[in-house]
Amino acid sequence: MARAHPQLKVLSIFGTRPEAIKMAPLIKALEAEQGIDSKICITGQHQSMLQQVLDMFDLKADYTLDVMTPGQTLNTLTAALYAAIDPVLDAVQPDKVLVHGDTTSAMVAAMSAFHRRIPVAHVEAGLRTGDIHQPWPEEMNRRSIDLIADHLFTPTAESRRNVLGERLQGVSFVTGNTVIDALKMTAERIDKNRQLRVALDRQFNFIDASRKLLLVTGHRRENFGDGFLDICEALRRLAKRDDLQIVYPVHLNPNVLGPVTERLGGLPNVHLIKPLDYLSFVRLMQRAHVVLTDSGGVQEEAPSLGKPVLVMRDVTERPEAVAAGTVRLVGTDPDTIEKGVCALLDDDQLWRMASRASNPYGDGKACARIVDALMGRPVDEFTVEAPDPIPEPIEAQRPVLPLRSASSLH
Ligand code: UD1
Ligand code: UDP
Repeated sequence: MARAHPQLKVLSIFGTRPEAIKMAPLIKALEAEQGIDSKICITGQHQSMLQQVLDMFDLKADYTLDVMTPGQTLNTLTAALYAAIDPVLDAVQPDKVLVHGDTTSAMVAAMSAFHRRIPVAHVEAGLRTGDIHQPWPEEMNRRSIDLIADHLFTPTAESRRNVLGERLQGVSFVTGNTVIDALKMTAERIDKNRQLRVALDRQFNFIDASRKLLLVTGHRRENFGDGFLDICEALRRLAKRDDLQIVYPVHLNPNVLGPVTERLGGLPNVHLIKPLDYLSFVRLMQRAHVVLTDSGGVQEEAPSLGKPVLVMRDVTERPEAVAAGTVRLVGTDPDTIEKGVCALLDDDQLWRMASRASNPYGDGKACARIVDALMGRPVDEFTVEAPDPIPEPIEAQRPVLPLRSASSLH
């Protein structure tokens, strides 16, 4: 009788929207690998914003925890995660725990595994700003996870250099970022299916095709308070331009939703909308002229779609697209944000330079490399391709889709 294939039991634990987007294609690859028994535990740190990702990638969680409370503090969240994750480790008895990035869910899952001497693999390892308060608390989370991980899947050569410089114990591989795998799968799905594009665009029928689209997202804790008020001030000023319209899917964190709704709600040229499912958000990125964000994932995706990005932070752990010229740091000062956006709107040459599609973060094969590494096979590591040539002047470009302008969504 043939012996059963020995299986590596891998438990992926995650809880927020970006982790789900970046882990989904990897879990698909784990599930397709004969030698791996893949289990999923969702912590529940995000609920509504995460479920749409699982649905889109057709993933089912084996364990769903329930740690979110409205407006929770980092300490109550951390305590709830420790209490909830431990029984799952007991039940699954995994050979390896897989975590992603730098959220509180990832940090507590990694620590919980470490306390039980279960090896940890860290996807998106090695990102550093060098400042423990920026982003806060993520820089501490990612450093703590890297310290204990036995596999460090660093997306870029720069992040690999960071972990090597810290002389960490885990073995590192340059894999590319799994977000580019997720983005490629999603963008291809949209590009190949006209009906889907029309259906996605129907929910944006408030967009006026004759105006340039500024897509905004923001949620960083270090920007809470004055930072968000300054961001709103910049958007209020930009909204006065009649060649521009602003679309802003607002993060559900009450520290964001509160000030943004209060300061920007009702402005005719600012469309505040609910967080979008991933397909719709990718479609909106495709249609944007400029992206203004403090998000980590959006900083990685937009350059790959050839969209100029202004990042509302003072430092970034993702310096590669800054070096490539598609990303610029503008902080939260209203004057700097306004000047940065206006420069990209008014200077066509600058916009075209910043619109060169570049893929410093991945080539869509990160998940395959990670599975190879977990299975002990040789890993063909990620190297950066040259950026695309500078695009044609904007008048020479055909619109992606003829759009009907219409009323507002809200
Ligand atoms: C978290 C992560 C951050 C990540 C971000 C992605 C930590 C400390 N922060 O920040 O690293 O970049 O997610 O979006 O891990 N809420 C809802 N529904 C949801 C999600 C959030 O209502 O689906 C509200 C709740 O009031 C919740 C609050 O937002 O208490 C804050 O959520 P939390 O996960 O603590 O922090 P984020 O700001 O979302
Ligand atoms: N995103 C989404 N819907 C939205 C806004 C963002 O699906 O309305 C996606 C985006 O494409 C990216 C991820 O969510 O992949 C980024 O999440 P977020 O900015 O919340 O977290 P960060 O990346 O900063 O940790």
